[in-house]
Amino acid sequence: MNPYKSQRVAYPYFVVALLLFVLQVLMGLWLAINYAFTLPQSLIDIFPFSTARAFHTNLPVLWMLLCFMGGTYFVVPEESKSELYSTKLAYLQLIILVGTGVAALVSFLFGWTQGKPLLDIPFELDLLIVAGALIFLFNVAATMIKAKNWTMIQGTLLGGPVMLALLYLFGLPFYKNLSIDWYYWWWVIHLWVEGAWELVTGAIIAWILLRITGVPRGVVEKWLYVEIGLFLFTGIAGTGHHYY
Ligand code: HEM
Ligand SMILES: [Fe+2]
Repeated sequence: MNPYKSQRVAYPYFVVALLLFVLQVLMGLWLAINYAFTLPQSLIDIFPFSTARAFHTNLPVLWMLLCFMGGTYFVVPEESKSELYSTKLAYLQLIILVGTGVAALVSFLFGWTQGKPLLDIPFELDLLIVAGALIFLFNVAATMIKAKNWTMIQGTLLGGPVMLALLYLFGLPFYKNLSIDWYYWWWVIHLWVEGAWELVTGAIIAWILLRITGVPRGVVEKWLYVEIGLFLFTGIAGTGHHYY
């Protein structure tokens, strides 16, 4: 079924993502219980709402990242018809990202957060996320360049991490003027989703369509262009609804 050995690196990515997802949902339930019932203060203090909320909203960013990184590692070998450039780097990247994610959760417990919803992770840990993203970009690019079997799906899969790494940089600095700070926060939140995540998910879905239907590659690729074009255009225009 899976002709390339290195595709297996996707598996731990998905398992970890699933565990993080379960943790997120548990946090969501705790938030909901806090809303629904009048709990004794002693119970509320054990795990404050604000901390649970930071867990609940930051965890999906990490597990979705892991899902599409794992997905990319699964698709790239089959598209490029070669093993991944380095499975070691892929595992190292997973360890860095998950380690940083867990460190961020622990830091929330102690109130160390940037206070930017969805991107509460402290600045110092942000840099490790950047390192993980750059390893991902390098590994994917090196695999494709070495294999020299370019397809449109690969181009899209490569465009995703490029945009991912670039746009994350806008969320790193802290601007004293909060309007400016939030302006760039939206760049990460919105443009990440429409400019990076959608490239990766679009390419993965195109690949799944190719594999499970008999539709010719050219047709799928044509609609992938249309889809990512719409995402990019509406995403850039759509970010404007936060410029109030
Ligand atoms: C059983 C499942 C879930 C429960 C019980 C739950 C519960 C909640 C609650 C009570 C809030 C409000 C927190 C507040 O008022 O500050 C919330 C917010 C949020 N949840 Fe969930 N949730 C669940 C699953 C999910 C999933 C699967 C996702 C995303 C993949 C998600 C993403 C979010 C986000 C982004 C917010 C923040 C929304 C905002 O502040 O505008 N939740 N959730
Ligand atoms: Fe929006």
